[in-house]
Amino acid sequence: MNSLTSEILKQLVNSGNEPISGQQIADQLKISRTAVWKHIKQLEDDGYEIISVKKKGYLLHKRMDSLHPAMLDSMTSTERVGRKIHYFDSCPTTQSIAHEEAANGAVDGTVVISEEQTAGKGRLARNWSSTKGKGIWMSIILRPDIPPQLAPQFTLVAAVAITRAIADETGVTPSIKWPNDLLINGRKCTGILTELQAEADRVQSIILGIGVNVNQTTEDFPDELKSIATSLKIEIGNDVDRLVLTAKIFEYIEKYTDLYIEQGFRPLKILWESYSDTLGKRIRASMVNGEIIGKAIGITEEGVLQIQTDDGKIHGIYSADIFI
Ligand code: BTN
Repeated sequence: MNSLTSEILKQLVNSGNEPISGQQIADQLKISRTAVWKHIKQLEDDGYEIISVKKKGYLLHKRMDSLHPAMLDSMTSTERVGRKIHYFDSCPTTQSIAHEEAANGAVDGTVVISEEQTAGKGRLARNWSSTKGKGIWMSIILRPDIPPQLAPQFTLVAAVAITRAIADETGVTPSIKWPNDLLINGRKCTGILTELQAEADRVQSIILGIGVNVNQTTEDFPDELKSIATSLKIEIGNDVDRLVLTAKIFEYIEKYTDLYIEQGFRPLKILWESYSDTLGKRIRASMVNGEIIGKAIGITEEGVLQIQTDDGKIHGIYSADIFI
């Protein structure tokens, strides 16, 4: 979408239920009324329903189901997260774009979001299915002043933030499977991929890749995922507003990263533990170099999972697939 069209969309959103006159838009953007009309036509062609109210102006009647920054901006009250958004209709993966943006100096809280990913990346080099317009596929660039070994904590902070956002929006609270899978009724609705740009002693940026399955039906998932993945729509039985949920995720990520900076990991660890479906259970952790079976007894201050095997030994797990 051209930047003037997007600016007009923003004005329509901001004027809410009050029509805004073509003249007012033209004056503010220093363009002619004919140009305003052309951009309004463009928005209509894109799927926005705009009513022309006689002698009063334009009114946005129905918004499209899109995560366009002009729409997100009007719903977000954060100071950093989501204030700068790079939006794509389609891209291979938001992670690589976010890495480039971070390397080029993107500010803390910058978001890269796409309606579709053609080469979505999951953890452990897996693919991430990212159907067009059905989920939230985004990468958030964070710049906390912490040493690299504390970065895994951010995966857990993000898991708690998204859990809270989903609970607020749907009334269903997912459980967290260590470190980063959000499950509803045992099936995965959200994955988080945390990547780093760091020097030896300091993090330059954390790229928080977030994939939320929102409005897919079972048919939207590839066969191999049908029995293990789910969407919010499948679980609650109706469509979920992706815009509202995305804005909520921005808010909770900002709130909990602020809490982390002020009070450290402890309060977030307590929250994470309260949502965990891993702790206290007998689990199998499958890693590249073998597997460990035992009881998940806790996470450390660094976010490392601790498993106690039958011989009483405690093992710290940094990265693994967990089977319960
Ligand atoms: C997982 O394996 O559970 C992590 C999945 C992370 C998916 C998200 S979608 C947005 C961002 N872009 C990607 O390619 N991956 C992450």
